[in-house]
Amino acid sequence: MEKIIDFVGLNNILKRKKQSQKVIILDSNTYDNCLATLIGEVESLCDAQIIEIEPGDENKTLETYTSVVQTLIEQGSDKNTQLIALGGGMITDITSFIGATYKRGIDTYLVPTTLLSMVDATIGGKCGVNFGEVKNQIGCFLKKSIVCIEPTFLSTLSERQILSGVAEMLKIALVCDFELFEKMIQLSPLEIGQNKEYINKCIKLKQSVVKQDPFDKNYRHILNFGHTIGHALESIAMKKGEDLLHGEAVASGIYYTLGLCKNLSSKTTNRIKEYIKQYYKIQPINDVQELFNYMNSDKKTINYEYNFVLLEEIGKASIGNKISREQIELIIKN
Ligand SMILES: NC(=O)c1ccc[n+]([C@@H]2O[C@H](COP(=O)([O-])OP(=O)(O)OC[C@H]3O[C@@H](n4cnc5c(N)ncnc54)[C@H](O)[C@@H]3O)[C@@H](O)[C@H]2O)c1
Repeated sequence: MEKIIDFVGLNNILKRKKQSQKVIILDSNTYDNCLATLIGEVESLCDAQIIEIEPGDENKTLETYTSVVQTLIEQGSDKNTQLIALGGGMITDITSFIGATYKRGIDTYLVPTTLLSMVDATIGGKCGVNFGEVKNQIGCFLKKSIVCIEPTFLSTLSERQILSGVAEMLKIALVCDFELFEKMIQLSPLEIGQNKEYINKCIKLKQSVVKQDPFDKNYRHILNFGHTIGHALESIAMKKGEDLLHGEAVASGIYYTLGLCKNLSSKTTNRIKEYIKQYYKIQPINDVQELFNYMNSDKKTINYEYNFVLLEEIGKASIGNKISREQIELIIKN
């Protein structure tokens, strides 16, 4: 499991590694918005080398991986090099994959700068890159990582990006913490995303799920609540070149999936749906066949029955629910 630290903790760890080369991997946005803060707070990084990559998930690729590795080799980065990822989930995913594989593994520290990467992407040990049009096709599980959580980075993040991260916070509360969910929906998503207590709570909740099933064999699947439809919506948007953030797709995915959660009372279902609809645009599904095409390629789909995570009650989810095409068509129409 990852160790969570702050700027002071990161500085202390790096100070002990005086002789090693330090390399910060970032993108142009985190170069502009986050680098000065990091170096200002973590003095051991004042002599770090910088590798800048293009922002955006379309650059979370083997080509980017290769070009960073090439730079590391050219600048003589050895086994004692310390890698520091400074960015959102795109940067932390690819940097931790480089860190896990370069010279069979070098020390890597993750400094997430988006809400989504703080509460989700850097927690749980998954790393990797996209391949072709398919997300996260190549990657591995990290044995342990060190994650520096500093919500100060969120001050330069757009409201849209904050809302995207909050969708994952709502999800984790929905699947495992009734009380947290009830408290959160008293607030607007922007207020939730700025609440350090709730950020820390969501990190702990995800860690506790991952601890019970680190390699994502069964129980951890509850984290996919809203993602079966959400991922398909994300892929459709990507194909059409539409601008849809991961959390926005997940919010719509949760909205539609609630219609399948027959053990929830209609009052509860409507209350959650109303909250989501108030703050997130629900992605229309105009072409149901297209949705099924993408859901067919989902790794959780077997024999054209769709495998869904459903809510039994707020704070409790079940996995492995087989849902037919007709049931899905029905919730999309309603
Ligand atoms: N490993 C996992 O378990 C896991 C889980 C969820 C998501 N992910 C991955 O995370 C990625 C999405 O992460 P994301 O939502 O953080 O997107 P992102 O990393 O693409 O960042 C979003 C945008 O915000 C910019 N940015 C980052 N920090 C900023 C700041 N503080 N101020 C201003 N701009 C800033 C980035 O440059 C980028 O343009 C995807 O690749 C997804 O697959 C991984």
